[in-house]
Amino acid sequence: MPLLRIEDLSVRFRTHDGAVQAVNNVTLSVDPGETLGIVGESGSGKSQLAFAVMGLLARNGEASGRVRLDGQDILNAPPKVINRVRAEKVAMIFQDPMTSLNPYMRVSDQMAEVLVLHKGLSKRDAVAESVRMLDAVRIPDARGRVRLYPHEFSGGMRQRVMIAMALLCRPKLLIADEPTTALDVTVQAQIMTLLADLQRDFGMAMILITHDLGVVAGACERVAVMYGGRIRELGPVGPVFADPAHPYTQGLLSAIPRIDARDDELAVIPGQPPDMSRPPPGCAFQPRCAYRRDACDDRPPLAPFAPDRWRACFAPLDELRAGTKAFP
Ligand SMILES: Nc1ncnc2c1ncn2[C@@H]1O[C@H](COP(=O)(O)OP(=O)(O)OP(=O)(O)O)[C@@H](O)[C@H]1O
Ligand code: SF4
Ligand SMILES: [Mg+2]
Repeated sequence: MPLLRIEDLSVRFRTHDGAVQAVNNVTLSVDPGETLGIVGESGSGKSQLAFAVMGLLARNGEASGRVRLDGQDILNAPPKVINRVRAEKVAMIFQDPMTSLNPYMRVSDQMAEVLVLHKGLSKRDAVAESVRMLDAVRIPDARGRVRLYPHEFSGGMRQRVMIAMALLCRPKLLIADEPTTALDVTVQAQIMTLLADLQRDFGMAMILITHDLGVVAGACERVAVMYGGRIRELGPVGPVFADPAHPYTQGLLSAIPRIDARDDELAVIPGQPPDMSRPPPGCAFQPRCAYRRDACDDRPPLAPFAPDRWRACFAPLDELRAGTKAFP
């Protein structure tokens, strides 16, 4: 049984002049211990998909569909049940650690508070466990530093404190939304190594949201490619990167900066992402797609085409593979 099962999940925001359809009919599973990458341009719905699972949507947002975590409904069950399951089984980390840290509380107090509330530990045991967790994320002198305030840590160390905080209740699933984007390259690599180690030690599954396809290649088993709030391609990382089955995936891959390329040689996907307050009919990638055909005026369903591989596109695979219309 998958650990997380998302079925037909949509997220809609009411706005002053209408609505934004941020996520559309997403169906996807994550197995225990697995790492799933989610990639896509800015605004493609990656974060809102994660927020819907976490129950963190903004107040003008509403999620519909089904989300089951460890066999339990976490979208449509009574709030008490949902809150307990979420608190015990899933945690999220962010690009900005201050999203989940309180600047006015000592790290010891905010970490202990979580354990007292959710695990019923005494304050003393909770602080001891917090120190163990800071050790686990390799913060030097955890015992001394647990009494500091978040701003007294450097950027990379603060990121580690946030990770320790997220792991306190030993979640079965960790959702990481651009966890290293704000850090310099060396620290990025250290945090990614740390996450991989923790994932193995704690036996967690992870959803890794990122713009960086290099990070996906290094850390993930499967990848979901999102565009305009929908999954366009889903499959194991190796085959998807070696043989992309969607023009948008092809475009993303050819847009990876090459170390030997000059700036003016970098490929970008021409055109703009769709306006999700006025989603176009048919395939939303049409205006940017070199493979478009009449059929694309209808919406392509996400359909399986090889073992464990799915795509939403009407262009024949051999045409994509010939790459005659590949991006610059
Ligand atoms: N509270 C809100 N009200 C209206 N629209 C919103 C709200 N929050 C997000 N959106 C819209 O939902 C869409 C999806 O946003 P989301 O944050 O999921 O993008 P993303 O893929 O995570 O992008 P990025 O890579 O920049 O983080 C965007 O069009 C965004 O403007
Ligand atoms: S369905 Fe059509 S427009 Fe959409 S990506 Fe495929 S070929 Fe391009
Ligand atoms: Mg985001």
